[in-house]
Amino acid sequence: MESSCDETAVAIVRDGREVLANCVASQIDTHALYGGVVPEIASRMHVEAIDPLLDAVCLDDIDAVAVTYGPGLVGALLTGVSWAKALAYAMDKPLIPVNHIEGHVSADYIAHPDLEPPFVCLVASGGHSHILNVTHYGEYELLGQTMDDAAGEAFDKVARVLDIPYPGGPLLDKLADEGDDHAYTFPHPHTQGKYDFSFSGLKTAVINQAHNLRQQGVPIDAKDFAASFRRSVVDMLVTKTVAACLDTGAKRVAIAGGVAANSLLRRDLQRRGEAAGLEVYIPPKNLCTDNAAMIGSAGFYTLMAGRVADLDLNAVPALRVLMKEFREQGTGNREQE
Ligand code: KG4
Ligand code: ZN
Repeated sequence: MESSCDETAVAIVRDGREVLANCVASQIDTHALYGGVVPEIASRMHVEAIDPLLDAVCLDDIDAVAVTYGPGLVGALLTGVSWAKALAYAMDKPLIPVNHIEGHVSADYIAHPDLEPPFVCLVASGGHSHILNVTHYGEYELLGQTMDDAAGEAFDKVARVLDIPYPGGPLLDKLADEGDDHAYTFPHPHTQGKYDFSFSGLKTAVINQAHNLRQQGVPIDAKDFAASFRRSVVDMLVTKTVAACLDTGAKRVAIAGGVAANSLLRRDLQRRGEAAGLEVYIPPKNLCTDNAAMIGSAGFYTLMAGRVADLDLNAVPALRVLMKEFREQGTGNREQE
């Protein structure tokens, strides 16, 4: 079960790899009216969507109930968590707490039956941008992360100045396909950590450039602008991810999260990853954006590791990925924060 943001989703997954049902109810059309996700509306729409989604899948033979408990919008998460608790209690099945970001990584297990840890995974979504070393199922080392905005957030905000409706990422991507990616020059922000990102500076520079051009009466070519911006973001993501792989001796690289649906990112990672001698794993687009199949897959490996939740499980809006060193110490996510 997944309800962390603006998609309500229910899936049935067998043994972490095989998707038997995968239903997603998107709220995008509603939030587009406001130019972004309105948390209160999201929570209410999750409540409305859950029953029809449940009716659409067969729950007869399930062994456990996995649910996203963070990170995400608290009210949105709570709808899914409450529902999953009720179902687990009523069916007398284990309740499995799943971290949404770990869920994104698991999309690659579904898409690639032969993929096993260790591998490096770039997880880029509307709320997060991480380079993770996946050392084992459910075990990670953080190699790099964004210092400010997430990559998807930067796509959505730059799309706004081009009058592209929310969420701007997919439409900006389409527009960029027809543009010249060298028409505009944008800065490559510097970060202290070798594999860290900073998208806020790039986003501000891009938005300022658009405003300045408009003030001077210079028309903006939206296709060229979108293409140049997309190239800057993708360059940053791919360069750092491939460098992280080479420096850590990784042989495999994967991508995940909504931004992994970006066509240039998919093409560039494939090309530059292979040129660097890496095996490249890219999930289909419908497993990149939020869905419950990935949560079911992550839930399977969580259950195999013996982690189940009690019925007092709560939503944790700022939940982080539990890193290897903290797991080894036996401390939980709270201590990590
Ligand atoms: O993973 P996701 O569905 O939700 C979060 O966990 O945030 O990611 C949504 C983000 C949005 O910012 C959306 O604009 C971005 O992923 N996105 C894209 C593309 N498709 C979705 N960004 C760039 N290009 C795309 N094709
Ligand atoms: Zn997500």
